[in-house]
Amino acid sequence: MADIKAKLRDLGELRGDVLLFGGPYSNLQASHALLARAHALGIAPERRICTGDVIAYCANPAETLALWRQNAQITAGNCERQIAAGADDCGCGFAPGSVCEVSSRAWFPHARAAISPQARRALDALPDVTLFVHRARRYAVIHGGFSDVARYLWPVSPARAFQQEIDLLQALAGPLDGVIAGHCGIAFERRIGAVHWINAGVIGMPPNDGTRQGEYAVLGRDGLRFARLDHDADGARAAMIRAGLTQGYEQALITGWWPSEDILPPEMRRQGRAQLSRASGGWRSTRSLSRCSSTWV
Ligand SMILES: [Fe+2]
Repeated sequence: MADIKAKLRDLGELRGDVLLFGGPYSNLQASHALLARAHALGIAPERRICTGDVIAYCANPAETLALWRQNAQITAGNCERQIAAGADDCGCGFAPGSVCEVSSRAWFPHARAAISPQARRALDALPDVTLFVHRARRYAVIHGGFSDVARYLWPVSPARAFQQEIDLLQALAGPLDGVIAGHCGIAFERRIGAVHWINAGVIGMPPNDGTRQGEYAVLGRDGLRFARLDHDADGARAAMIRAGLTQGYEQALITGWWPSEDILPPEMRRQGRAQLSRASGGWRSTRSLSRCSSTWV
């Protein structure tokens, strides 16, 4: 294996269903909703896998972090890495003056101020890569990419972009059957050679589809199943307004549409989707084409 510096955590073999999720985004209401779902599904904390960004846009960073530190296995996201480093922004590299950059200038200081020195040290200790085996298949969990924690890989990204990350991960950790990622905010899966790439989606913000529901996934006996999550979006929005976080994401919780689509590839923006809709039956059907054999519920 190559000499690559990374914090690695190996959970060993996981027996039973595995809950996959990302992006709690300081949304305590969504976090409680997913925790209730995990209990209902009988999935224990050691089989709850978070792809990072526990902390981001919403109102309750400290409470959300405390909840998931107790109740899931967290791989570091860019937000965790940036707060641990005492940085000034979320590390996404948004264009100056863009909606995302203006918004992050509000929520990032709010989050940074809420995280205690002790919790910051815990963030620093989070792994870059988490490994586990499930039903004789070996998985690596990352946030965006391994080459860059804040790399955006979309359902429509070229296969070579995924392959670059898989090659790096296999040089670090040996042969893999699957990679589980997050960061981009939209659940999807791709088959890249023999490797199953799974983006488990995020629970703290809808996937820019006009709903109030987050996304997560379950690895079970019959394979991968994606699912949607309802939560108290009105309560999460009210908490953001009380905290002064009114740069647009508080509305996205209600409307289901992100305040800016600048970060999205053109064909995934609403206008691009309308064209897709006329040409090929819609974005949802296009998304389903990129899936493997999984189901949505
Ligand atoms: Fe992220």
